[in-house]
Amino acid sequence: MTPHNNANPGDFAKTVLMPGDPLRARYIAETYLEAAHLVNDVRGVQGYTGYYKFIPVSVMASGMGIPSISIYAHELFTEYGVENIIRVGTAGALDPEMKVGTVVAGMGACTDSNVISQFGLGVNFAPIADFRLLSAAVEQAKAMNVELQVGNLYSSDLFYDEAGRAIKLEKLGVLAIEMEAAGLYIEAARCKKHALAICSISDNVITGEALDADSRVTRFNEMIITALDTAVAVTRNSME
Ligand code: HPA
Repeated sequence: MTPHNNANPGDFAKTVLMPGDPLRARYIAETYLEAAHLVNDVRGVQGYTGYYKFIPVSVMASGMGIPSISIYAHELFTEYGVENIIRVGTAGALDPEMKVGTVVAGMGACTDSNVISQFGLGVNFAPIADFRLLSAAVEQAKAMNVELQVGNLYSSDLFYDEAGRAIKLEKLGVLAIEMEAAGLYIEAARCKKHALAICSISDNVITGEALDADSRVTRFNEMIITALDTAVAVTRNSME
């Protein structure tokens, strides 16, 4: 047990889906997992373990922002034997052409966070996704006709920020803004584990377009199924 997690050793599956919102964690467990049971509820950050297509999968919320996801990911990787974390979140598009509802996988994640400087490397570390998880997600999305764009994310420390910095990053081809991917990728690198962030685009920061409530649910579900099938694919491959 940790200060933030009262699950017992062995309670988590090797792969954990991680939405920001605890209620989404519960929704995913109740909607998609068989025999799901609650394994953590410290601070209301609900974690569940169950089965998807007969493969053990867990889902636990990350909370918002890099400090929060870094704590939960670190503890899952180091204390609970978790190998893979797949963030399933929302993001704001930075490309004016990008339609809301698009699902984006973060091959990399830039950030304005100073977290990496605390390791004293003296270099700009590039937080990147795990290639095996990313390629499995691309394959699963293709198989299900889910439109998945792959590229760079921007993990911002500030939700309420001037749009200026984000717009400058769009000039470098950064696809979308969210608040957690870089923290997750840094923890995975630090713990020698595996991570991927996939996000459905809830709004376009440049055009102001936003998803309506119904489409938000549909697109969220497409993303969840992509993530769950990715979990199944990597688990099956690692058993072969
Ligand atoms: N900024 C940061 N995080 C987000 C946004 C945004 O505009 N949209 C969805 N997640």
